[in-house]
Amino acid sequence: MKVNGKHYRTIWVHPENPGVIQIIDQRHLPHQFVIEDLSTLDQTVTSIKDMHVRGAPLIGIAAAYGIYLALLEAKSKQQDSKKTIESACQKLKETRPTAVNLAWALECQRNALAHCHSIEEMIGKSLETARHLANQDVEMCKQIGVHSLKMIEEVSARKKGLSVNILTHCNAGWLACVDWGTKTSGIYQAFDKKIPIHVWVDETRPRNQGASLTAWEFSQHGIPHTVVADNAGGHLMQRKMVDLVFVGSDRVTQAGDVANKIGTYLKALAAKASDIPFYVAFPSTTIDWTMKEGLREIPIEERSPDEVSYIEGFVDGSIKKVRLTPPNSPAFNPAFDVTPASLITGLITERGIAPASKEGLLKLFPEKNLDD
Ligand code: MRU
Repeated sequence: MKVNGKHYRTIWVHPENPGVIQIIDQRHLPHQFVIEDLSTLDQTVTSIKDMHVRGAPLIGIAAAYGIYLALLEAKSKQQDSKKTIESACQKLKETRPTAVNLAWALECQRNALAHCHSIEEMIGKSLETARHLANQDVEMCKQIGVHSLKMIEEVSARKKGLSVNILTHCNAGWLACVDWGTKTSGIYQAFDKKIPIHVWVDETRPRNQGASLTAWEFSQHGIPHTVVADNAGGHLMQRKMVDLVFVGSDRVTQAGDVANKIGTYLKALAAKASDIPFYVAFPSTTIDWTMKEGLREIPIEERSPDEVSYIEGFVDGSIKKVRLTPPNSPAFNPAFDVTPASLITGLITERGIAPASKEGLLKLFPEKNLDD
């Protein structure tokens, strides 16, 4: 998508140095647009763990490029390539536990490299695989948008051209993917078709991905939007100021239960109570076909309590952190929650929209032959 009128992806190979992967360092947004160079496995691990890159699809792609960088390092240090792949996969997988795309991307690299005979061949193959996964993510997100657009068009027709109001949580925009985003792809496509839309952007405490990232994306593209405190969503829904809720996901189970940024569950409850459609958009790479249900099985990342006790903002030309809570009040920071399938109107994937159930998902992905 566009940054100051120029098209960017969130991750790419340095145009003049194929040994360097470039990313948008999201810690600085919306105040500064910073591009970071990654040339080692450890830098990639840090970039995922400390959320320079974030969002389920993007951390998968970053991990895939991390394997490529690890193999380049192994060649220059004359290390064993097979051991390098295993320890790099281990390090990368430990960075963030909830998004399944990370494990999926590493598995794709493992499979792609299994039959290579030399380190040179592995380097070439790992780069090709990471590039392929990145391009595939772009295509999947674009298709998710095609399906979401139909729903926006239906609401727009019903409202006879009055603005369609969509509420979003966290950032499942292009910054969380490679391009387009999941929940935002249909919004961009509707806007480009001149359908009147307006987005309520949840701030998404504690890290404020909505207020800082989704709002920045929309302002760059000219999408009408308003940032609201997380607690405002229920009130807006009760007053029918929301037509649709769109969120993304970090892991979806066979049963259609969805892990997503903390606070998603509360929005789903409010949407159900106000009879407002609640849709979850994600590429099929976010489905964990090995998991039967979400509440007990999905690992929930617990992050530093400091993300709750402090808040960051832009002061005098730089980002500063200030304390919000009394120094001896402890804080607790679960980063995700699970929304049960029963609260979800539909799952939007690159293959179409399914009811949130095992049957619904299997209709879209019949090749997944699951035994009970
Ligand atoms: O902790 P983050 O910022 O990496 O989490 C990402 C999310 O939870 C998003 O809500 C998103 O919906 C999933 S990624 C498309």
